Amino acid sequence: MSMTPQEVIQNLGDLPPLPQVATRAIRISADSDSSSKQLQNLIRTDQALSGQLLRIANSAMFGRMREVATLTEAILTLGFSTARSVVIASSLKNLYSRGPASQKERILWEHALTTAITGTAISKALRFPVTEEVFLAGLMHDIGKSAMVLKFPESYVPLLRRIHDQGEDGLALEVDAFGFDHAMVGEALVRSWNLAEGIEAAVRWHHDPLQAPPTRRRSVALVALGNQVAIDLQIGIGSPDALAGATRGAMEILGLDEGAYQEHRVGALEALERDRTLVSDF
Ligand SMILES: [Fe+2]
Ligand SMILES: [Fe+2]
Repeated sequence: MSMTPQEVIQNLGDLPPLPQVATRAIRISADSDSSSKQLQNLIRTDQALSGQLLRIANSAMFGRMREVATLTEAILTLGFSTARSVVIASSLKNLYSRGPASQKERILWEHALTTAITGTAISKALRFPVTEEVFLAGLMHDIGKSAMVLKFPESYVPLLRRIHDQGEDGLALEVDAFGFDHAMVGEALVRSWNLAEGIEAAVRWHHDPLQAPPTRRRSVALVALGNQVAIDLQIGIGSPDALAGATRGAMEILGLDEGAYQEHRVGALEALERDRTLVSDF
């Protein structure tokens, strides 16, 4: 029997807080004119972040027409919510790269970014209206793994290695060893951070999208497909076969037959190729 998020939290003890920059970014509301200025001021405090935002605004993912050189232009190009997502993502990267297993964490981060980029590409191809949510949810979907690396370095890092080397079903191994899996930990974490419900749903159900609340199912499905593409490319920890059920569920939710899925996959791989430097430089 699986634990409730509350029980998971009790088992985990203190959870890592959402980084301060992310907290501030989330608090900047999307609806006032002063928001864009506030976001710019927040970004300006961090040199690396400013550079990342410009790079992303200039990436193929956002279909740039000409060089974007200033933060103001970058936010305009990306749109306010995406720019805010990037700020949150960038501060999360620091969360991913703490802890003792830096090599593993780098893989987790590249996996998150690849999932976000390919999920977003499929989302755009399907003209799904909440592309930013898919991007952010893609970045966060395995945040539970990072939390487990931080919390249980001695037991979880070897487990990840086993999953990586032997291609076993990670979720089942996690439940065997801890009584919960990274999706449950991620849900508890995202809930403690008070993030959007759509993100919480993707974190919880990306391995079983049909279980997600109906209004969230499509964005969860897009994250699941991004996850499959990333693992197929061996960017991440896990075996492609272990995701077959999730991917079938996602295809059903999005109404994709095998042909349509393969077509979107190719499109997602092209998007990733165009934004390759985004993954390597972020
Ligand atoms: Fe996962
Ligand atoms: Fe994943």
